[in-house]
Amino acid sequence: MDLVVLTLTLLLAPVAASSERTVYIVHTDVSAMPTHHADHREWHAAMVASVNEDDGMILYHYEKALHGFAAALSASELKALRDAPGFVAAHADHQSSSSYDTTHSMEFLGLDPVNGLWPATNFGEGVIIGVLDTGVWPESASFDDEGMPPVPSRWRGTCEPGVAFAPSTTCNRKLIGARYFNKGLVASDPHLNISMNSTRDTDGHGTHTSSTAAGRPVPGASFFGYGSGTARGAAPRAHIGMYKVLWQETSHASDVLAGMDAAIADGVDIISISAGFDDLPLYEDPVAIAAFAAMERGILVSASAGNAGPQLGTLHNGVPWLLTVAAGTVDRRLLVGTVYFNNMTQSITGITTYPANAWIADTKLVYDEAISACNSKQGLSSLTTASCVVVCRNTGNLLHQIKAVEEAGVDAAIFVSEHDVSSVRFTFPALVIRAEDAPILLGYIHSRELPTATIKFQQTILGTQPAPVVAKYSSRGPSKSFPGVLKPDVLAPGDSILASVPPVRPYSRIGRTSLGSNFDVMSGTSMVCPHASGVAALLRAAHPDWTPPMISPP
Ligand SMILES: *[C@@H]1O[C@H](CO)[C@@H](O)[C@H](O)[C@H]1NC(C)=O
Ligand SMILES: *[C@@H]1O[C@H](CO)[C@@H](O)[C@H](O)[C@H]1NC(C)=O
Ligand SMILES: *[C@@H]1O[C@H](CO)[C@@H](O)[C@H](O)[C@H]1NC(C)=O
Repeated sequence: MDLVVLTLTLLLAPVAASSERTVYIVHTDVSAMPTHHADHREWHAAMVASVNEDDGMILYHYEKALHGFAAALSASELKALRDAPGFVAAHADHQSSSSYDTTHSMEFLGLDPVNGLWPATNFGEGVIIGVLDTGVWPESASFDDEGMPPVPSRWRGTCEPGVAFAPSTTCNRKLIGARYFNKGLVASDPHLNISMNSTRDTDGHGTHTSSTAAGRPVPGASFFGYGSGTARGAAPRAHIGMYKVLWQETSHASDVLAGMDAAIADGVDIISISAGFDDLPLYEDPVAIAAFAAMERGILVSASAGNAGPQLGTLHNGVPWLLTVAAGTVDRRLLVGTVYFNNMTQSITGITTYPANAWIADTKLVYDEAISACNSKQGLSSLTTASCVVVCRNTGNLLHQIKAVEEAGVDAAIFVSEHDVSSVRFTFPALVIRAEDAPILLGYIHSRELPTATIKFQQTILGTQPAPVVAKYSSRGPSKSFPGVLKPDVLAPGDSILASVPPVRPYSRIGRTSLGSNFDVMSGTSMVCPHASGVAALLRAAHPDWTPPMISPP
């Protein structure tokens, strides 16, 4: 029996190997192209045809970011291709689980509508920023083109049609280009159903980053009342070209290379990419490779450092020829609520995202050793007969506590924790206060027979000090693939940034009611990078002759 199985395996193995193809990125030497080929596309196709008869195996031809192509090849086909004249190198495509990874942040950067860089550069007028991301929601008010100058005549980009994306109604003088690249993704799994086969953003990341870079001013923006004000990009009169290369499924180096190749060919001035590939050698890193070619053509590439801090050596995009951006805090706390107690004479501020202009007025405070671990629905359910605010002590398991209180149906809660809860969406009135503030509140509760409190939501506090502080999550240098250079280069606002998002999914809820929003608050080096890209666009507008190293000295 064993022998039969073994024989079958041996017989089948080579068949399987020759039909099983992997996507490779192949670098070629154009100077070796035989003269009878009309162009390098024809030459690449001939190279691939010489090792296999199948059609359509070339996914992308690369012309600007590097010379070469991406193709699905079997091991034996690749081996044969290595002997072809003009073959330089090949490496397998890489998949990344996308480390993707504002109103007030602009004022904090020192951008003032009346004085300084904004008026001096006419708000980045005429500059084109190519954003490589998850796509864009073109109907967002941030991309309205009222008052925008015409599309620059040097622009060679296009607005590609796709699912739920008709060029006639999506692109305009603000969003001047929209393209999408998913052939690498599709080749990795031919049975995959792409969630949105067009440049339309269903994730939110790309709409957020592109509106942060160059969104027009949108008055009356807020996240359910938090951070309300005018949302605008760092370069509000710059044009945007969106290159969708990051997919909700996964992201592939071959697609990122294709997007950067297209951005260079289309004539962008700045490339903004809020994503990176970790732990790749430079010769396989699509951002490093394409950014070098971009730099040679005078295009500045601004890229996020990653969110893997605070340990050293966690950074990506750490090459000298691009601007690597780290995340810092802003002098504003965006998601704030306040609890008032002792007849309104004392108060503590905390973090909340409760999405309503609510007011818990003069309500009984409960702190009970038996239930204030807030970890059991049974214990907490004794609090649901009358209106009260339960105070939950710091057990280190905040998310579990929030869930328990919500499920028990307690009216409101005050949690004690040091966790950053800005990404937690509270569906009931709740406030998270710091451990150092808790004794004051507990002292008051223990000193009264009937302690009560009032809680207000939807507050935002300006002038927080010290700021900026490097965010804990911001990846630290050096880059493992290029340890000899000091990175990251600059720090910009990345914490709790308000910007546009697609209004198609719930961003919060109250009880069981889902709530939509045109704006969301996100944190990360992804949010920082477009701030830097926008400022680079302003410098480009003021000094069109400056080279990338002059804008961001290495
Ligand atoms: C993709 O969609 C088709 C048709 O809707 C369905 O039959 C198929 O099972 C889906 N494939 C995957 C991998 O989800
Ligand atoms: C996506 O749309 C393009 C253009 O219509 C089409 O060529 C391609 O096959 C589509 N891809 C998938 C995975 O549906
Ligand atoms: C609470 O404050 C109000 C207004 O300051 C005051 O009139 C009232 O006496 C105070 N009540 C208590 C119980 O201290």
